[in-house]
Amino acid sequence: MPTDTLTVTDNRTGKTYEIKISDGTISATDLRQIRSSPEDFGLMSYDPAFLNTASCRSAITFIDGDKGILRYRGFPIEELAEHSSFLEIAYLLCEGELPTRSQLEVWERDISGHTYVHTSISKFLDGFRYNAHPMGMLLGAVSALSTFYPDAAHVLDRKQRYVQRIRLLAKMPTIAAFAFRHSRGLPYEYPRNDLGYVANFANMTFNIGGRFEPNRVLIRALEVLLILHADHEQNCSTAAMRAVGSSQVDPFSAISAAIAALYGPLHGGANEAVLHMLEEIGDIKNVPSFVEKLKKGHGKLMGFGHRVYKSYDPRARLIKRVADEVFEQTGLNPKLDIALELERIALQDEYFISRKLYPNVDFYTGLIYQAMGYPTEFFTVLFALGRTPGWLAQWEEMLLDPETKISRPRQVYIGHPTRPFVPIHRR
Ligand code: CMC
Repeated sequence: MPTDTLTVTDNRTGKTYEIKISDGTISATDLRQIRSSPEDFGLMSYDPAFLNTASCRSAITFIDGDKGILRYRGFPIEELAEHSSFLEIAYLLCEGELPTRSQLEVWERDISGHTYVHTSISKFLDGFRYNAHPMGMLLGAVSALSTFYPDAAHVLDRKQRYVQRIRLLAKMPTIAAFAFRHSRGLPYEYPRNDLGYVANFANMTFNIGGRFEPNRVLIRALEVLLILHADHEQNCSTAAMRAVGSSQVDPFSAISAAIAALYGPLHGGANEAVLHMLEEIGDIKNVPSFVEKLKKGHGKLMGFGHRVYKSYDPRARLIKRVADEVFEQTGLNPKLDIALELERIALQDEYFISRKLYPNVDFYTGLIYQAMGYPTEFFTVLFALGRTPGWLAQWEEMLLDPETKISRPRQVYIGHPTRPFVPIHRR
């Protein structure tokens, strides 16, 4: 008998089935042959939220949640964060290999050639209220881009995919910075392609009257944060990107679905929620009572816990180092003490230990972004900037995968059986 199979006995019929195991998985469609009667549709697997279901094969990002390992295309995140630029990482994720010097030059030149947005996009942003959430603005403006580039609909054309990737990587910082300026009532600052990718973004965000001088330490710190956010395999927003992209819609529309998913407080919105939580706690002396409240089921410790990481989030460890470098430049964030005390108490509390809850990527990023001068509601936009290459790489991998079909989960129907219509006067 082959050993890489699973033998299943259906006790309803007494029949036994051999199901193939490959890469540690069984195919859910192989369960269909298991029927209780000839009319039976066949057995399905039930897995809300995909807790134990692989939805694709991917060669992009590897995570070992128990060991706290994260690698992009095989390279440890610690080494990439130490040595690479964000655009190098974007190339690695999208093209599969680290670029040579000349490949990187072409990639950077292509991206810097597309940083401007059509003036109608600026006017579109003008239409938002002064207090519009920048994630809502980003989401709206990125989806509007699809109407400017009808050629983006040709998703099966390799050249078109390359151009749209470049456009998205190039225009995302411009739109993000314009959203920031809009909320401040400041005129838009146009891209300066003589600056690097991150310095240009900082300049478009903060420059007033040519007086902005990028601080090298802060620019590199932001670049490292973008690298740490660049991909994270099949998380909620990436799953949205793949699912929506599987309909073969253009990438601007698909990526706006990913941005929408990221906006939520359980995903990318957690960095913003952490800051609100720290504000609510207010003082270090309130930390113990706050933790007790959480343990009684009143809310969650935002920035803690992860679906995949059950020992520690390697990004959180690297981010703590970035925090030290940033605070050396900007002075300590007064909320840092509250965060450190929360972490200290939570890490020795049985409630958090038994549930394997550790600080995740979002626990300290908000404090860093705040120290850099970004308002709380802008934090998730920075996450979106970082995640853009990951979304694009996963989208293209999905399109090129011969196993891809339009994403269409099954359901277990639990509603009424058929019943006759009741006219309105008799209800
Ligand atoms: N604070 C308090 N209790 C928690 C927390 C938390 N942050 N996270 C999970 N738990 C508890 C949860 O109540 C449950 O307890 P019980 O077994 O008694 O019912 C147990 O731990 C298991 O939690 P779960 O909800 O089954 O875990 P999940 O894998 O479905 O959720 C999570 C993962 C990240 C959504 C969740 O931990 C959470 O909501 N964390 C806070 C929000 C956050 O920081 N999100 C950012 C995630 S990392 C970046 C990103 O993905 O964007």
